[in-house]
Amino acid sequence: MSETQPGPADAEGPERTERDPRALAEAPEPPQLPGTPVLGNTLGFVRDPFGFYDRLESVGDAVGYSVAGREFCTVFEPDYVEQILVEDNERFVKSEAFRDAAAGFAERGLLLTEGEEWRDQRVRIQPAFTPDRIRSYADAMVTYAERTLDHLADGEVVDVQDAMSELTLRILAKSLFDIDVEGRREVVREAAAALNERGDAGGASAFLPDWVPTPKNRRFERAMTDFEAMVDDLVAERRADDAEYDDLLSLLLRAEGPDGETMAEEVVGDQLVTFLFAGHETTALALTYAWHLLGRNPDEAEKLRAELDATLGDDPATIADLPDLGYTERVVREALRLYPPAYVLFREPTEDVRIGPYRIEAGTNLTLPAFKLHRDGRFYDAPDEFRPERWTADFEDDLPDYAYFPFGGGPRHCIGMRFAMTELRLVLATMAREVAFEPVYEGDPDLAMSATLKPTTEMRMRVRKR
Ligand code: HEM
Repeated sequence: MSETQPGPADAEGPERTERDPRALAEAPEPPQLPGTPVLGNTLGFVRDPFGFYDRLESVGDAVGYSVAGREFCTVFEPDYVEQILVEDNERFVKSEAFRDAAAGFAERGLLLTEGEEWRDQRVRIQPAFTPDRIRSYADAMVTYAERTLDHLADGEVVDVQDAMSELTLRILAKSLFDIDVEGRREVVREAAAALNERGDAGGASAFLPDWVPTPKNRRFERAMTDFEAMVDDLVAERRADDAEYDDLLSLLLRAEGPDGETMAEEVVGDQLVTFLFAGHETTALALTYAWHLLGRNPDEAEKLRAELDATLGDDPATIADLPDLGYTERVVREALRLYPPAYVLFREPTEDVRIGPYRIEAGTNLTLPAFKLHRDGRFYDAPDEFRPERWTADFEDDLPDYAYFPFGGGPRHCIGMRFAMTELRLVLATMAREVAFEPVYEGDPDLAMSATLKPTTEMRMRVRKR
């Protein structure tokens, strides 16, 4: 089974966008969700974002609407997703709604830059994510997972989301910046929490301009200032240190661009902010949801443990074991299907384009809802059920490419995908053979559309040691 994402970076497909101006002009607009004249669909969206997406889905395969004075269009067809992310990717940029939600946050980092600047950064940063580099991070993944186990007592109830957040932060900081974040964790946590809070699509402040001094914006400003000061210290410490480091930070400080220049210091800072955010909460949530699903599905948890016992015996998991841990990988895939942390991708066309039969105007805020496509009954039997075994080679062959895209696709797919897939499997393999978590809350977690797909339920679970 391949761990990679459908949609190679340089994929080329048939051109779908209509470049003939007359044919484009004649193409119909996508169906619109009816709304009120001034507010459009704002209230419906803010009151119940999940119900709102259900309504959109019932209208058509691409649906227009207006929220907070902005024109949106959500697409529900894998082909349209593929066109936007892969085939015609050069005609789309991250959308205004996304850029505004992220304003003040690492604007010159890899997640937010466009065009030549983005390409140059991606080429410089890629060497930190080669299979060889990831192999060298694997020890930290296992070591910190083992330390997490040491702190768990049989029978106690823990907040698994907190525990996974701490674990993934340690792994990321150690493997990418070679720092142990002990004294710095609060600064990073506060910044991560403030960013997530600000991106909360259900909260009205997501629609207010930046400069409105809401408590959330003030918290965000303070948190980012502290975080940037910490990053400055890190860079200064590294520059003053003669030792050889082989991590992302050294690479950023060393790597020369096409002009022979190294990256400006504030851009290095923006990259560190970007990677701490993009790589921390996402992996913490993926693990949290995996533990939830295993806790609710004891038979699947047992199959996972059986695979781990048979493959690993008494030895610690290593990266060399991963090809033999097929069920572990399926558990991860299925958790990312049901609860994709990056649940919606945002793009806008830079010119009028045709998507499927529809004409989409330049500047329309497009949303690509992975969380809906991943549970679409056209592609998945019993779409709401946790069935790791569905991920057979035949199933993957038959699945339309972009019916599953937890890591995005095309040139801007997640640069940390291989890192994340390695981390998720190694942490699960290390921990699941020693411990199980039993949720003490009822049913499935309630979710919020924050910057990531976050539980609002406290993910408290009872530890059962083997
Ligand atoms: C389960 C874990 C993760 C998930 C679900 C995830 C998901 C995604 C997705 C969907 C995108 C594409 C966004 C778009 O096209 O608009 C993305 C981009 C990105 N991810 Fe991840 N990610 C994860 C882990 C990581 C890790 C571990 C890192 C770094 C160590 C990372 C760093 C990034 C960066 C820097 C980008 C921007 C890439 C670019 O625009 O060139 N991610 N991620």
